[in-house]
Amino acid sequence: MTILGIETSCDETAAAVLELKNNRITILSNIVASSASLQSKYGGIIPEQAAREQQKSIIPVIETALKQAQCKPADLDAIAVTYGPGLIGSLLIGVETAKVLAKVWSKPLIPVNHLIGHFYANWITSTPTFPSIGLLVSGGHTDLVLFKDHGKYEYLGGTRDDAAGECFDKCARLLGLPYPGGPQISKLAEKGNPKAYDFPRPMLDSKDWDFSFSGLKTSFANLLKDSGSIDAENLAASLEAAIVETLVTKTVAAAQKYKVEQIIVAGGVAANQKLDEELGTRTKDLGIKLHVPPPYLCTDNAAMIASTAFFQNKTADPLALQANPNLSLTP
Ligand code: KG4
Ligand code: ZN
Repeated sequence: MTILGIETSCDETAAAVLELKNNRITILSNIVASSASLQSKYGGIIPEQAAREQQKSIIPVIETALKQAQCKPADLDAIAVTYGPGLIGSLLIGVETAKVLAKVWSKPLIPVNHLIGHFYANWITSTPTFPSIGLLVSGGHTDLVLFKDHGKYEYLGGTRDDAAGECFDKCARLLGLPYPGGPQISKLAEKGNPKAYDFPRPMLDSKDWDFSFSGLKTSFANLLKDSGSIDAENLAASLEAAIVETLVTKTVAAAQKYKVEQIIVAGGVAANQKLDEELGTRTKDLGIKLHVPPPYLCTDNAAMIASTAFFQNKTADPLALQANPNLSLTP
């Protein structure tokens, strides 16, 4: 089975061709065009500008993905596309393109929730089993779910305000670092002392599975005002330590509470090495198997969208599918 995946929910324009054979997934091509250099100039994403760039690159990106995979439209079994959540102008580019291709090539169209897609990056390089705890940490989402099977999960909790990635991005911006800020903070943190500042670990003792990161950002802003960016490395290391400890503690607690032996991590922040290391140590002690995709599959890509489609029965009418910018993990 060969699937073309298309992803345009934020500032990336991505297309990938994946093959499922003998229960193994192979990436035949995985193209990601990003307007990040443009975004970093403005310190964030300007939705209309992102969509204009995507409109220019969507066809070349799909053509390149097919060419690299040495795949003709006739070789495809289906087309999978992200239909939400995300920026509406951006989503429309991918969804409308996928609808046209599905119609003219007479292929099944598989609509994929971007958030579920992040989790399925794990099935490309690993073989998670159920039940498992899923932690999604991206630029817009921080969610904990209990996966029971493919397409079956219980939502446990999520951030009440800023997402973990958003906290990284906003604090990086305060330091004058370009967008996206997560990798920048992480690089700075390598040279800093994670114990230099005692940032709050928000909601660690709450009786639910929710998170809150906006207070952390405020503490960071206040300390930065006091110390000045002269101590940027220590600030970055301490911030990263606080975010990582909060995420790890709650995720591991959820795995213990629900007695699961697998944790799957997903989203751009899953590319964070400290998070990976800390989760690795804590899960090893408890005999829990940890799945984290390689960094290039953590940030937005179309391979994860095609991967999801292998496990999802739902298809859509190419004339009727609508982009949904507000799609979530909650029912
Ligand atoms: O999943 P993603 O690519 O896009 C969304 O769907 O939001 O996540 C982007 C987020 C950004 O906030 C970015 O700063 C963060 O992931 N990120 C990281 C790292 N790489 C990307 N955060 C911390 N450490 C990283 N290495
Ligand atoms: Zn994403």
